[in-house]
Parts: sequence; structure tokens; C-alpha cells
Amino acid sequence: MKSQIESRAVSLLRASRAMVRRAGSMAGQTAPPMGSVRFGSLRRTTPIAGSFGYGRGGTRIGRHYVNQFIQAHATDIKGRVLEIGDNHVTKAFGGDHVTQSDVLHAEAGNPLATVVGDLATGEGVPVGVYDCIVLTQVVQCVYDIRAAIKHTCAALKPGGVVLMTTLGLGQISRYDADRWGDYWRLSAQAAERLFGEHWPDEAVEVQTYGNVLAATAFMHGLSLEELTQEEINYHDPDYPIIVAVRAQRPVDS
Ligand SMILES: C[S@@+](CC[C@H](N)C(=O)[O-])C[C@H]1O[C@@H](n2cnc3c(N)ncnc32)[C@H](O)[C@@H]1O
Repeated sequence: MKSQIESRAVSLLRASRAMVRRAGSMAGQTAPPMGSVRFGSLRRTTPIAGSFGYGRGGTRIGRHYVNQFIQAHATDIKGRVLEIGDNHVTKAFGGDHVTQSDVLHAEAGNPLATVVGDLATGEGVPVGVYDCIVLTQVVQCVYDIRAAIKHTCAALKPGGVVLMTTLGLGQISRYDADRWGDYWRLSAQAAERLFGEHWPDEAVEVQTYGNVLAATAFMHGLSLEELTQEEINYHDPDYPIIVAVRAQRPVDS
């Protein structure tokens, strides 16, 4: 009992010190005075380019970060690989290292699909067979996100890897919302806990991509080409456009 009270007191002390530090650093910020900000082209209540800027011809900022993450883990895309909806990531990044490329679709009728399976219910999703699952930009579309992650983890072989990306910030995708749904924007903390329900901490790596400028541009459907490399690469963990997870099923599980 005493140790419980002591540890609670220590965490309260830590939390209050963190608040003091944060207040101090905010006070030190040189934010321009109220009323002096020039909004320029951003003074509008509708996006500059709707639908994530499709049709403008540039590279989508969200997809750029997804590709950056996948490129960094391309060596995981090998053996029997599952991707959702189509297999463009498997083909582009796995190449000859892929021995079998499966495409999962929740409903029959997708000509690219080799597996009809629902990640929310687990129905039709193979168990324990994949070396790699490419789960890019899917889980925000599944209302029962915990079940989707559970069935993804179960579909991997021991030692298999899931590469997941999803939105941390961003507009609703009307296309997705009208078909299967667009339910969630995830934090890094949530992603860590969702995978942590299945595997130990060391099996789960979470990364985020983005910053306030990239997020503003992304919200307006602006393109990668409209920012500098330095601007796009600046990482601010409090503005995660993309939350990405590499999680590996322990070999002894
Ligand atoms: C935004 S798309 C992403 C497609 C692709 N993976 C990509 O990186 O662009 C969302 C995908 O989630 C799939 N999806 C939605 N709900 C699902 C479910 N319950 N089970 C399996 N797939 C689902 C949709 O069919 C769609 O292919």
C-alpha cells in the first residue's frame, strides 16, 4: 500500500515538473502578436485543392511519407506477402524477393484479389502463413481497429513482419468514407498499444512523419513539390501526418 502511494506521488511529481517545463518553454516562444499573422492564400474555409489534391499532378504528401517508411523497410517485403486492395507496394518494393504475392479484398469482385477476407471479423483471412503483410492506409477504414490488428498479427508466420501505415492527421477521405468507412486518425501511442496487446515492446517500432507546415499543405491538397526537402523532412512528433509501425511476430509465438 505504502509503495503504491509512493509511486503515485512520484508520477504526480514528474507530471507537474513536465507541466512547468512545458509552460516555461511555451512562454519562451516568440509567437507573433495576435492579429499580425498574414494568412495569404490560406485565408479560406475550403481546401485549395480538395480530394488530397488528386488531379493536380503532384506527389501526395501522405503517400510520400508512406513510401519513405516502406523504402526504409523494403528488405522485410519478401517470401509470401499479403497486401490489401492491390499489390502496388509489394511489386514496387519487394521485387524478386517476393515468392508469392497475395491481395486481400473484403468483398468478392475485385479482379486483383487472391483472397477474399475481412480483417474486422477475420473471416477468410489465412492464419500463420505470411512472411510480410503490407498494411498501408487500411486500418483507418476499419471500425473495429483492434480486431483488424489482431487478425493481421495472427496471419503472420512466427518471425513475419507487418508494415503498417495510417493517418495521424488529415481530412476525411470521402471516397473511402462512402465505401467502407473512414473512422480513425491514430496517435503513435495508440499504435504502440494496439500492437502491444499482442507482442512485447521490443517487437514493435513506431515512427511518425510530418510537421505543422507539411500538415497544413496536406490538408489543402498541396503537393510534395510545393515544399522544400528540408520542410518535408522536418519531424515534429506532435504533428504526425503518417503513423507507421514495423512489428515482428516473435519466433517463439
Ligand atoms: C485507403 S484504401 C488503401 C489501399 C492500399 N492498401 C493503399 O495503400 O493505398 C483502404 C482499403 O481498406 C480496405 N478495407 C476496408 N475495410 C476492410 C476490412 N474490414 N477488411 C479488409 N480490408 C478492408 C478497402 O477495401 C481498401 O482497399
